[in-house]
Amino acid sequence: MQVSVLSRSVNEVEADALIVNLFEGVRQPGGATGAVDAALGGQIGRLIEAGEIRGKLNEVTIIHTDGRLPAARVAVAGLGKQEEFNLETIYKAVGCAARSLQSRGCKKIATILHGAGAGNIDAENSAQAVVEAVSIATYDPGAYKTVEPAPAAIEELLLVERDASRAAKARRGASVGKVVADALASTRKLVNEPANDLTPGRMAEEARRLANLHGLDVEVFEQPELERRGFGGIVAVGKGSEETPVLITIRYIPRRRGPLVALVGKGMMFDSGGISIKPSEGMELMKGDMAGAAAVLGAIDAACRLKLKVNLLAVMPCAENLPSGRAAKPGDVIKTLSGKTVEIVNTDAEGRLILADAFTYARSQGATHIVDLATLTGACVVALGNITSGLMGNDEDLLEKLRSAAARAGERVWPLPLFPEYREQNKSPIADLKNSGGRPAGAITAAAFLQEFVDNTPWAHLDVAGTYWNEKDVPYMAKGPTGVGVRTLVEFVRLMAGH
Ligand code: BES
Ligand code: MN
Ligand code: ZN
Repeated sequence: MQVSVLSRSVNEVEADALIVNLFEGVRQPGGATGAVDAALGGQIGRLIEAGEIRGKLNEVTIIHTDGRLPAARVAVAGLGKQEEFNLETIYKAVGCAARSLQSRGCKKIATILHGAGAGNIDAENSAQAVVEAVSIATYDPGAYKTVEPAPAAIEELLLVERDASRAAKARRGASVGKVVADALASTRKLVNEPANDLTPGRMAEEARRLANLHGLDVEVFEQPELERRGFGGIVAVGKGSEETPVLITIRYIPRRRGPLVALVGKGMMFDSGGISIKPSEGMELMKGDMAGAAAVLGAIDAACRLKLKVNLLAVMPCAENLPSGRAAKPGDVIKTLSGKTVEIVNTDAEGRLILADAFTYARSQGATHIVDLATLTGACVVALGNITSGLMGNDEDLLEKLRSAAARAGERVWPLPLFPEYREQNKSPIADLKNSGGRPAGAITAAAFLQEFVDNTPWAHLDVAGTYWNEKDVPYMAKGPTGVGVRTLVEFVRLMAGH
């Protein structure tokens, strides 16, 4: 999709469709929507009068202009209630309009900068969100379909802003949006790929390809090296599969000094549960148990293309959790890279074992901060559903940065407490720790387990088990992988860079 910003009036723009907007309850459209309404001889106003356009969020009304405007169609996107307007509103409203226009075969879409000037949203934020929204909404998850034709892609997106200084801001926002949108699309593509194609080895290839593209340093530890160096957690989890585990590290070091932020992503290429095998219903979605690693890959891609001035260490432990004659068994005791021993009481609590080793490695490489993303627990889905990711950690300042990054990115995160008492549940009679603290507060005890491996390093953990996949179509996104975390991580890195 080609993106450009036009410093022109909406009534001069040629396109298959032009997206304008309307707040709920507005009877007389103003601004750009008003200008379009005037060119249409008051048709939008009449549709409002007739109760056909109500301005509700996710409502899209398409009007054919029949030569009254250079744009062939006008799409009026509802923004919902004015007092509830925020960045997410832009994603939803523009996303819905884009999806509906795409299904009508529109290839060249123009849009105004929705919400620019509302609250703390300026032309730059708005342009970024609009570009991301169109890309997110029109992503096609049917990558392996051979019979049904893929929906035609939107080829061109024009952002229309008459005011030259706002247009300049919009250009900056649009170029950031394009980078983030592309990163998000590659993350979703990876999460969508089945485990027979996307093995740990293939993930390493993807990382190498990305690193080579940007001239970044990439390191892949294969099984023998993991064994030799003492990555007991990763090795134990990967033992049951013919596809051997890897630890992928990418370094992006744009500065001579300053913090080194480790972005750690859980890369369980498939999680059957291992010997503690999962029920088969829905198990196919465990191909996406690497959504954390995929988001980290997307984030480092974007950070590098945006030339953000923060030193980053992307660490992605990747393995397949399968039962076999070689697999780890309940009761096994392993020694992690940190030296701490863990009794594996449930082979399905595998994510924390590979993350533990990844954290120790990140710290050995000089990480000053750790942010991890993981589809870690079903308990997080029970606690928070599919609406928001869980946020935990040991450092208020870092947690606050992630909260505000997520808000700026239009993603949702919500804190869960990490009181020291929760650590009790991870105690083992035979080893330093056990890998499951049982059912109560499962999302929190998983985080408490991870905390044992960060020591005093400021650390934040996002449990994305409930948010990495949409089980149903939502109005602005097809069902399938969401790419959760990419936008938040990019905003977080921008915050760390002082943008
Ligand atoms: N990958 C799963 C968590 C998960 C569940 C992700 C649903 C996405 C959707 C994780 O490895 C897991 O199996 N966790 C167990 C931990 C338990 C055995 C302590 C769980 O949540 O049931
Ligand atoms: Mn599991
Ligand atoms: Zn898992």
